[in-house]
Amino acid sequence: MEHIAVAQDNDVLVVAPATANLLASFAHGLADDFLTTLYLAFTGPVVLAPAMNTAMWQHPATQANLETLRRRGHRIIEPEDGFLACGTIGPGRLAEPERIASAVMAELRRRSDLEGETVLVTAGPTQEALDPVRYISNRSSGKMGYALAEAAAARGAKVILVSGPVHVQAPRGVAVIPVRTAREMRTAVFENLERATVVVKAAAVADFHLTEIPAQKVKKTAARLTLELDPTPDILAELGRKKGDRLLIGFAAETENLEREARRKLETKNCDMIVGNLVSDTSGFDADDNEVLLVLRTGESIAVPRASKRAIADRILDESLKLRLALHSAHER
Ligand code: CTP
Repeated sequence: MEHIAVAQDNDVLVVAPATANLLASFAHGLADDFLTTLYLAFTGPVVLAPAMNTAMWQHPATQANLETLRRRGHRIIEPEDGFLACGTIGPGRLAEPERIASAVMAELRRRSDLEGETVLVTAGPTQEALDPVRYISNRSSGKMGYALAEAAAARGAKVILVSGPVHVQAPRGVAVIPVRTAREMRTAVFENLERATVVVKAAAVADFHLTEIPAQKVKKTAARLTLELDPTPDILAELGRKKGDRLLIGFAAETENLEREARRKLETKNCDMIVGNLVSDTSGFDADDNEVLLVLRTGESIAVPRASKRAIADRILDESLKLRLALHSAHER
């Protein structure tokens, strides 16, 4: 069968230009012609370069389909602004061939560059109980950590995902270890550390907790309630002390002084890279997109412009592999 044979014989599926109809068919799994059946039969990376009228591009239906395809891990090459065949001016023009070609080359490089690696990722928030029914936590959605786990698995790594309570679906082929508290996360991380060659600490771990949790629900008796909290174990700092040869990547979510804080955490926690992001209403917690600053052990900093968390995840992995090579060759010299 032709569509199966073509799917098996090729490394990347590129559709350029991708029409609104094509995006809708791919998003919903319709398979009524050669290309759409080929898509369902194809298990490798997919690159889509949409081109269409501006209103069609901006239509909520098209944008929802794009979101579905991005979440699936496909690379969308955004159309450019300009004169369109229909006579209007705006976004919708097919990206320049150079941009499409370089996206395809990046996909080819990534295909199996993590084979043989075991990547341990932590994701999501932790919840620290105050009594049997209440807890303190934070706004982390887990999306960045899950995107990293998905990207690493797609690139051939064995992935162990230690996850706080989130509402994100587990990526295909990834073993998820669910945890709730910082202490549980610490235990799960150190139980699985031996096998890991790369550790990515994307979780937003609570910094304080109640050591003695009341056995019964706290009653509203007093006019004011004061909580006395103790620090949780700093898992990343402990990983830094027991680092060995593995690559250690931490995160820093900040509201100000991003570069300075990220570099401070890199040094105090003995990491190879800190992924810093400024938390705002549109980026950071719970958003689908992100914009990050990578602060590296070599002294270099790399600003990664806004993109989907999945695309950011691939960039973090690209830079981690480059960093490891740079650190190895510096060590040998
Ligand atoms: N982290 C951790 N264990 C903790 C706290 C944080 O492993 N108890 C890790 C996070 O997973 C993240 C990094 O440390 O990779 C930075 O977390 P962040 O909350 O930004 O830093 P803190 O060390 O808590 O520093 P501060 O509160 O001063 O910002």
